[in-house]
Amino acid sequence: WGPTGHRVVGEIASQYLSGKAKRKIARLLHGQDLAVVANHADEIKSDNRYREFGAWHYVNIAPGKQYGEESPSEHGDLVSGIERCIHVIKDEHSSEEDKVFYLKLLIHFIGDLHQPLHAGKAEDKGGNDIQVRWFNSGTNLHSVWDSKMIDQYKMSYTEIADSYTDISRQEVKKIQEGSVLDWVAESRNLADEVYASAEIGEKLGYRYMYEHFSTVKIQLRKGGLRLARVLNDIFG
Ligand code: ADE
Ligand code: ZN
Ligand code: ZN
Repeated sequence: WGPTGHRVVGEIASQYLSGKAKRKIARLLHGQDLAVVANHADEIKSDNRYREFGAWHYVNIAPGKQYGEESPSEHGDLVSGIERCIHVIKDEHSSEEDKVFYLKLLIHFIGDLHQPLHAGKAEDKGGNDIQVRWFNSGTNLHSVWDSKMIDQYKMSYTEIADSYTDISRQEVKKIQEGSVLDWVAESRNLADEVYASAEIGEKLGYRYMYEHFSTVKIQLRKGGLRLARVLNDIFG
């Protein structure tokens, strides 16, 4: 996701944290909101010192395959990256500085896990190589899903986070079930639909929004609820 998407995920997650998790996270982040730190992992991308985390933002899975059936990326991926973050945060031997850093990464990566094209095909870099038109400008399918649709309405992240219809505790629990591997499989399935949704060079606009923005919103909410679940498990 782009900045707005990650902030929405962080904002929703903060509404579902346990009291204990909230207190421990506030101490580590010096009171900064999850929404504020949610983009840290993207902000450090251009800094060579953090090169090693570049491949952790996505996981490529070939059509018809599942995570783990192909040889793992030597640079790591979204799944191994999330596992690493959880490990460092939980490890009592980790420095305070590392815990803070990996917590910020985790908040970001659980968001990325829910962008379908962050679990797309390697051959087109998760849709980055699929050029399309968004209204009257050139862009690519990955960017349409990261940010073009989300930013089309020019709503703030709090406005988007507050625009959801209420869901019952049971529905929340249901969404929070499962594992990182289940959630990545769900994104991979959605990625197939996204790939089928547009042709190379196609002009996308209001109709595309109408057909696909609901999926974006559902994925952002799932990302937020599941981020809360992961953080409650860690800090519970
Ligand atoms: N960003 C850069 N490379 C990517 C890939 N292969 N899949 C998804 N997102 C990416
Ligand atoms: Zn992206
Ligand atoms: Zn990212």
